[in-house]
Amino acid sequence: MLKVAISAFLAILATSLISFPSLPKKPSFYHSLFLSDRVSDNSSAARHLQILTCRPHVAGTPANAEAASYVLSTLTASTVKSHVTSYDVLLTYPISRSLILTCPPPADPPETIFPLHQDIYENDPYADVADQVLPTFHGYAKSGTVAGPVVYANYGRVEDFEMLKSKGIDVKGNIVIARYGKIYRGDIVRNAYQAGAIGVVIFTDRKDYGGGGHRAKWFPEDKWMPPSGVQVGTVYAGAGDPTTPGWASTEGCERLSEEEVERGGDVPLIPSLPVSWADGETIMKSLGGDVADDDWQGIDDGPLYRVGPGPSVLNLTYHGEQKIATIENVIGVIEGAEEPDRYILLGNHRDAWTFGAVDPGSGTAALLEVAERFGKLQKKGWKPRRTIIFCNWDAEEYGLVGSTEWVEDNREMLALRAIAYLNVDSAVSGAGFHAASTPQLDQLLIEAAQQVQDPDNSSQSIYDSWVGASSSPLVERLGGGGSDYAAFVQHVGVPAANIFMGTGYPVYHSMYDDFVWMEKFGDPMFRRHVAVASIWGLMALRLADEEFLPFDYLSYASELQKSAKELQAQVSSKEVDLVALFKSIRDLQKAAENINIERKVKTLKL
Ligand SMILES: *[C@@H]1O[C@H](CO)[C@@H](O)[C@H](O)[C@H]1NC(C)=O
Ligand SMILES: *[C@@H]1O[C@H](CO)[C@@H](O)[C@H](O)[C@H]1NC(C)=O
Ligand SMILES: *[C@@H]1O[C@H](CO)[C@@H](O)[C@H](O)[C@H]1NC(C)=O
Ligand SMILES: [Zn+2]
Repeated sequence: MLKVAISAFLAILATSLISFPSLPKKPSFYHSLFLSDRVSDNSSAARHLQILTCRPHVAGTPANAEAASYVLSTLTASTVKSHVTSYDVLLTYPISRSLILTCPPPADPPETIFPLHQDIYENDPYADVADQVLPTFHGYAKSGTVAGPVVYANYGRVEDFEMLKSKGIDVKGNIVIARYGKIYRGDIVRNAYQAGAIGVVIFTDRKDYGGGGHRAKWFPEDKWMPPSGVQVGTVYAGAGDPTTPGWASTEGCERLSEEEVERGGDVPLIPSLPVSWADGETIMKSLGGDVADDDWQGIDDGPLYRVGPGPSVLNLTYHGEQKIATIENVIGVIEGAEEPDRYILLGNHRDAWTFGAVDPGSGTAALLEVAERFGKLQKKGWKPRRTIIFCNWDAEEYGLVGSTEWVEDNREMLALRAIAYLNVDSAVSGAGFHAASTPQLDQLLIEAAQQVQDPDNSSQSIYDSWVGASSSPLVERLGGGGSDYAAFVQHVGVPAANIFMGTGYPVYHSMYDDFVWMEKFGDPMFRRHVAVASIWGLMALRLADEEFLPFDYLSYASELQKSAKELQAQVSSKEVDLVALFKSIRDLQKAAENINIERKVKTLKL
């Protein structure tokens, strides 16, 4: 019997050897190849980044259309069938700005007119294109001129305005100065508006972005924000084109008017401007009133912060252009061989406020690196079981516009076919791996990190350094706005993850987020780019190729259990019966355990 079986096996083997030049290989063969030095390449990630960051490329500008062509041709060259999907959306650009500080005598000078200009640095290779950097502004800011006494509101949080109120300081009719760093800048403007402010200036404090002292050096000597550096950014509270909330901005579609957009409450109703730490300190020095509390102060050897109001007065003007602009998402597809109607999506945005080396160039370079490696696997005979879709989004910086419109445009298709969406925004700003996901992807993330070498220490895996550095839960949950995963998770309920290396980089959204900063401080060997591409691509490969989807719902059940307990604590006095909820969670947990066992048995048999 055994003999018969063996000879039958040999016969099959012989025919397959004759009919195939090489035996078809298991997915795991290609997954190991994907991680090997034979296909991964730090020099190509560096080259892509250098090309993508050669000049500023804000959404809706010709420079960003050029960047789209580069992404399209690189994907195509890697045998990924690609096309551009355009939408016409409302974006805003600065036309004129002015900021004048007036101080009563004996102050000298009595008037300061801020230049609102970021300076080029010594040996700046981008000096010749510096004039293409947009004037510093806030996306979707309200246009207008306002003037009034200045009040300092710390980080502009609700509790900061409550603190001012408790001290009897009325913000009404005044201009608020707040510093960046603890909450979303759009919420700073909204909180100031709700407290009665007529305008807002937000500055980059040296304490948080400047290296924290007079002796500190800044870019290009060190990684810190230079004195004239300004963090640009949107102040929009919504997601997607503000004129088409909930539906896609397709040709000829219905749009809200400017008044309707303002009534919707997601765009600010008072003007605001971002300023540098040098300008912020000049304004802070001009304030009188009570000395601010210790946790409202800046660096020890910097100026003493007082809360005002006044006696100095700020006159702030911002005029922006509202424009229906064309944005371009680049979409690339590798069709699945067995389940073509099941999609694994990898997404990253392309538009940047300035040169965008970290945000988002590092992510785009990693996306292209993944595509190139997939191209090499295809040449070796790999075909994904399910369809893989690359998404290179536009206008993320303005408020997740490109991804939101695309999801709105393809909602039914995605609800039926999307297996998972894997996002990378700023892929690399330093060492240390971070990840967030919907819980059924936790285990996959962990396993991928175990298979990839730590780019900063060859004797351990990314997983080892990740665990070593983390005091909080290993895999975090996806935040509210954040990045392009939002529409997938919140509108369609697609499982999603977001990964990156490094935390908060000081030159964020300034003119100094360029290739030189990345080469000197973010990723000198470009090995971190390679590592992010490895984890990103490996997760995609496993989701695309494994017969049984690598989801683990045990983690989902325990996350639900945790949330239900929090809910229970909140409603304990209100006689709400949560028995059925807890029972459903237990049922899910049991089902997840059973599925995990079944999968193990089936995988062993294979
Ligand atoms: C503010 O400055 C603008 C010019 O920059 C001027 O036209 C306007 O009168 C000033 N407003 C106040 C209230 O000082
Ligand atoms: C590199 O990893 C090894 C093994 O985990 C560890 O013992 C060593 O301290 C690490 N080296 C550095 C510089 O972190
Ligand atoms: C790629 O890594 C090697 C070392 O592994 C390094 O010598 C080389 O400079 C790196 N390339 C780039 C572009 O950083
Ligand atoms: Zn970004």
